[in-house]
Amino acid sequence: MTKVRVELGANSYDICIGENIFGAAADFLAASNFTKILLVTDENVGALYADKFSGVDVVKIPAGERSKTLHCAEILYTRAIESKLDRKSAIVALGGGVVGDLAGFVAATYLRGVNFVQIPTTLLAQVDSSVGGKTAVNHQLGKNLIGAFYQPRAVFIDIATLKTLPERELKAGLGEVVKYGVISDEKFFNCLEENVDKILNGDAEILAQIVRRSCEIKAEVVSLDEKEIGLRRILNFGHTIAHAIEEETGYEKYCHGEAVAIGMLGAAFISEKIGAVSHAAVERLENLIVRLGLQTHCEGVSVDKMYSALFRDKKTVGGKINWVVMKKIGAVEVTSGVPENIVREALENIAR
Ligand code: NAD
Ligand code: GLY
Repeated sequence: MTKVRVELGANSYDICIGENIFGAAADFLAASNFTKILLVTDENVGALYADKFSGVDVVKIPAGERSKTLHCAEILYTRAIESKLDRKSAIVALGGGVVGDLAGFVAATYLRGVNFVQIPTTLLAQVDSSVGGKTAVNHQLGKNLIGAFYQPRAVFIDIATLKTLPERELKAGLGEVVKYGVISDEKFFNCLEENVDKILNGDAEILAQIVRRSCEIKAEVVSLDEKEIGLRRILNFGHTIAHAIEEETGYEKYCHGEAVAIGMLGAAFISEKIGAVSHAAVERLENLIVRLGLQTHCEGVSVDKMYSALFRDKKTVGGKINWVVMKKIGAVEVTSGVPENIVREALENIAR
């Protein structure tokens, strides 16, 4: 098992990464002397892995983005009260980003905050959502609009869980992995280009490597800017358009990581149009996305509606969208001065 530290002063924590490490997670929970533990999972993950944890109350939510609501949070609050969780208790998220975001939001708000532990089981949650403390539920007018920054006490990433993950979900997680290469590490991007086959075949060694490097990059950014005052915005590369795609398609047609891959191409198009990046770099990004089996265009969307949705994004401040644009593979910058016609052209370019 290897560890990556998220340095946040008194709220620092370890991301523990390895194969078959549920035992280590269970030991950590036992050693922490939490008064009670409520393990939140979804129906799919619960059926596969909940029995690996004893001495915990288990609550299973329906799988999928539609569970990331205040309604579902209320069901969890009720279970927490019924299970008599107190301030020294813990909520453990065992599952993908939906479980992690929802359980984290409940942990942040129940009794004004109880201990929280993340055990992510999708690639997307392992490389992104379980690290950094963003928790949220969706509102019918937009994604992740109700939430809190709330750091976990620890994150346990068991790479072996990726063996049961549906292929489509693995590929979706790769969308976020590619993002890390684009925003801060060209060498990592090269490594992804060189290992596409191994990655798609679920090679445990390369998956552990890419999870670790992704977590290192995320941990570094979060340590420098926990509350997204500036630098952390770079983690949203591709997400402004991705959120609009997800909202426009009712959160069901595309997995989050799939929408991010398309959104990155929209952002790359904008970057090239404003002269920030070369065509060659954009082409490299597109080629990798295609080789990883991710889509480059979205269907069933209206450009006008997506354009309106962009203004409900959390990164939009005072009516100005903060765009994360590519400078090259391995570097991005934030700009708010992208003309409407270029944004619309980008949306037309990715819509089918
Ligand atoms: P998800 O949680 O819906 O999981 C995808 C599917 O995989 C579900 O059906 C789940 O039951 C199943 N599954 C999970 N692990 C499995 C396993 N090991 N074996 C078999 N099946 C398994 O989706 P996701 O992609 O993990 O997360 C998406 C969510 O994460 C979105 O709501 C997104 O907004 C959020 N997110 C949050 C952050 C953050 O920083 N908090 C970052 C990125 C994404
Ligand atoms: N997924 C973006 C962030 O954590 O900031």
